[in-house]
Amino acid sequence: MQKNILVTGGTGFIGSHTCVELLNNGYNVVIIDNLINSKKIVVDKIKQITNKNIIFYEIDLFDKYELLQVFNKYKFDYVIHFAGLKAVAESVNKPLLYYKNNIMITLNLLELMETFKCYNLIFSSSATVYGDQKPPFKEDMNIGQGITNPYGQTKYMIEQILKDLCSCNKFNITCLRYFNPVGAHPSGLIGEDPNGIPNNLMPIILKVAIKNNLVSDLDNRYENINIFGNDYDTKDGTCLRDYIHVVDLAKGHVKALDNMKGYKIYNLGTGIGISVLEMINKFTEINKVDLPYKIIGRRDGDLAEVYCDPSLVKDELGWEAKLSLEDMCRDCWYFIIG
Ligand code: UD1
Repeated sequence: MQKNILVTGGTGFIGSHTCVELLNNGYNVVIIDNLINSKKIVVDKIKQITNKNIIFYEIDLFDKYELLQVFNKYKFDYVIHFAGLKAVAESVNKPLLYYKNNIMITLNLLELMETFKCYNLIFSSSATVYGDQKPPFKEDMNIGQGITNPYGQTKYMIEQILKDLCSCNKFNITCLRYFNPVGAHPSGLIGEDPNGIPNNLMPIILKVAIKNNLVSDLDNRYENINIFGNDYDTKDGTCLRDYIHVVDLAKGHVKALDNMKGYKIYNLGTGIGISVLEMINKFTEINKVDLPYKIIGRRDGDLAEVYCDPSLVKDELGWEAKLSLEDMCRDCWYFIIG
């Protein structure tokens, strides 16, 4: 029998790619999203890619009554919880907003899951919970020290709530700690499309590539990429990150669904550290675009190196990242140029 799955934040970057993989693997998918950082058209794009139907509700998880109506209507076997605010700098300026939103919506969801006896949850966590420890990050490391912003704290706090919930033996919960998701679906139909001014490296690379190669009258702030420091103790002085193709990441969720038992944590990354300069150079080479950059000062809170040890998820779930840096650069540019 087909399983019903509720996906919160399902029109967002990672959520939408995960919905595609879920539909392709025979799940019935219901999305709820408040569209604060995504667009409704994504629902049609998911249908177009998969040729399958998907149900969408524009609901804010704060609205428990609306959420209750959805739980009343479907019997969910699983929930994947992507919804949440995630802009690091904004979280520093508006900590109450982040704590209230990310924690409250999760509690609302968990309470309804308990009421409706849906005990299987996958939670979108982040590499940020490892704080400022020395990589490679492993799932059994202590976490919670050296987290530099309220966004990261909410991920840490929610992990603690979920762990406590599992200890009463009803829930099966898997926290997936994402490293740096980039790329787009190879169809070019869905990709990262944040509302407002981006802060993360790849969305900025895309804006600068658009300004210098496609639409020259775009906002002047995208004339060049500002590299935040080249004096780190790394191979070329710029920071290293573990970039992972969003389609690989999405497939990791399907694998995790097949193997839920008690409380589990997995890193989803490649285990390879790529520098900011390597990323810019690879993007330029693969897409044959001009990508001017400038070195400026370090960004507060940045760590020199962030990458994981991906062996646990490979050993236990048989999942590993398959797509390359070339795929990541090519697919996200194809999403822009169509
Ligand atoms: C950041 C957050 C992390 C969050 C993730 C995804 C911090 C400390 N970490 O990760 O908690 O989960 O975003 O939202 O904020 N860079 C530039 N110029 C730019 C933008 C980025 O040089 O204009 C560099 C950064 O210094 C970093 C790398 O690119 O070395 C990646 O940055 P970013 O995409 O913002 O991700 P993280 O900092 O890894």
